[in-house]
Amino acid sequence: MSPALLDIHLTDGDADAALRADVRAGLTTIPKQLPPKWFYDARGSELFELITELPEYYPTRTERALLERSADAIAITSGADTIVELGSGSSAKTRLLLDAFGRAGSLRRYVPQDVSEAALRSAMDALSVEYPDLELHGVVGDFTSHLHRLPRGKHRMVAFLGGTIGNLLPAERAEFLDRLRAVLQPGEQLLLGTGLVIDEETLVRAYDDSAGVTAEFNRNVLRVLNRELRADFPVEEFTHRALWDAENEWIEMRLVAQRAITVTLAELGLEVRFAAGEEMRTEVSAKFRAPGVRAMLEEAGFTVTRTWTDPDDRFALTLATAT
Ligand code: SAH
Ligand code: AVI
Repeated sequence: MSPALLDIHLTDGDADAALRADVRAGLTTIPKQLPPKWFYDARGSELFELITELPEYYPTRTERALLERSADAIAITSGADTIVELGSGSSAKTRLLLDAFGRAGSLRRYVPQDVSEAALRSAMDALSVEYPDLELHGVVGDFTSHLHRLPRGKHRMVAFLGGTIGNLLPAERAEFLDRLRAVLQPGEQLLLGTGLVIDEETLVRAYDDSAGVTAEFNRNVLRVLNRELRADFPVEEFTHRALWDAENEWIEMRLVAQRAITVTLAELGLEVRFAAGEEMRTEVSAKFRAPGVRAMLEEAGFTVTRTWTDPDDRFALTLATAT
């Protein structure tokens, strides 16, 4: 077994500074908003894993079924010796890729990267036992700012699964793809998972489950702020709302203040007022159409090699090559 490496590109100090900047900006603008990456402390990562098992949350099982069908073809087409995965979380579905690339005989190294150190460490502990011959090189980092520090390789395939690209706003998404293209060599690849536009009812139910797990996940960001910034959000007095924005073709998650609430964030020396019924955006989850996926990839300097979709056209996996 080769010893696993862990690079820290995002120190506790960096994360703290970024959280402070995001929260100060997001809570002093109208409408209020917070970036979704702050959901994912250890508890947030666990709540996300519970979401993936909910009957209403179709994306994970749909993408898993797609991977079951397509992983061997992806491995043979790609021939990569390194899989880099951005926002890898538990790496649960990635095992299908690791197995297929193993069968194809090309894989030497897996580089999971995540902002959540807790999720990354727990995934790596399990993977080092399950894949003793695979070189494991974890990276704690932010895929919006640390791509240039990813380990280099002979031939890498970057996997960005789960539809997480949809959690970036359009300008962030374009910047992310440009930066990713800039750090890849021609011929290296991106395997991109995207949720597709489907009917509104199914979409909204996936983000507003009957067991209330997504609501807890949404409110978790307030718990993070209470702990990290010595804030005093009365967490239970914010309710979860998920809506479909048909114009932007994204699901928006919001937290709604149930009464007029004044919050103090002691670490920021900031006091913030919420009016009764005021809504704060905590996440967008954009859904795509096939031509849109192709266009955004081509715009950034990738060519689409092949796309796989499920029979109900709910999710797509696109293998693209840096030109
Ligand atoms: N890829 C997994 C997990 C998706 S959940 C799957 O498909 O199931 C989104 C993951 O991205 C979480 O593990 C979260 O911690 C991570 N994440 C969110 N924003 C990030 C960022 N800016 N940089 C790196 N990781 C991020
Ligand atoms: C990680 N990401 C792709 C999830 C999504 O579906 O947008 C996060 C999530 N938010 C609510 N449920 C799941």
